[in-house]
Amino acid sequence: MSMRRKLLMLFATALVAVIGLITLYTAFEYTLVSDVRERIAGAQTKEGVELGALLFETRGCSACHTLNGISISSIGPDLTGIATVASEAQIAESIVDPDAEISENCGGQACSRGLMPRFGDILDDREVTALVEFLSRYGRGGVERRE
Ligand code: HEC
Repeated sequence: MSMRRKLLMLFATALVAVIGLITLYTAFEYTLVSDVRERIAGAQTKEGVELGALLFETRGCSACHTLNGISISSIGPDLTGIATVASEAQIAESIVDPDAEISENCGGQACSRGLMPRFGDILDDREVTALVEFLSRYGRGGVERRE
């Protein structure tokens, strides 16, 4: 094997390893790290909109989605006003199985499939319901802001 080929193989292996590690870490962040943060915040005693607001912060939603002008990135669609264009069932489906239907506007660009984790595999029904309640209340277009 030529030196160039060997280097290329090495590079490809390193790349696969790095992508694997990032994927593992991301899964870890969305599950175990979030579990710990929620325990500290007393998630067990919260429910409905209040639990939804907590999960929106701890489960990474706010890292990808803007809501009422609060934004770190626009990887996912702006959720401001989501409750005026989507039903509760549609919002729930977007959370449980994001790839079932792909939204069109992610920061002015087409949205990518497979970026949003399948939260149906991560969250239980009570948590999904809480997120839906939270978005139904606060996803109305900045009329009612949090805090
Ligand atoms: C890694 C980034 C990422 C994370 C984390 C994430 N999302 Fe998403 N989300 C996306 C992307 C990209 C889309 C658009 C593609 C699609 O429709 O699946 C999307 C779509 C959505 C939609 C549909 C929006 C529309 O306009 O139809 C909703 C609702 C949603 N996400 C809610 C959530 C909630 C709630 C959480 C946290 C439990 C979350 N997202 C976490 C990236 C993310």
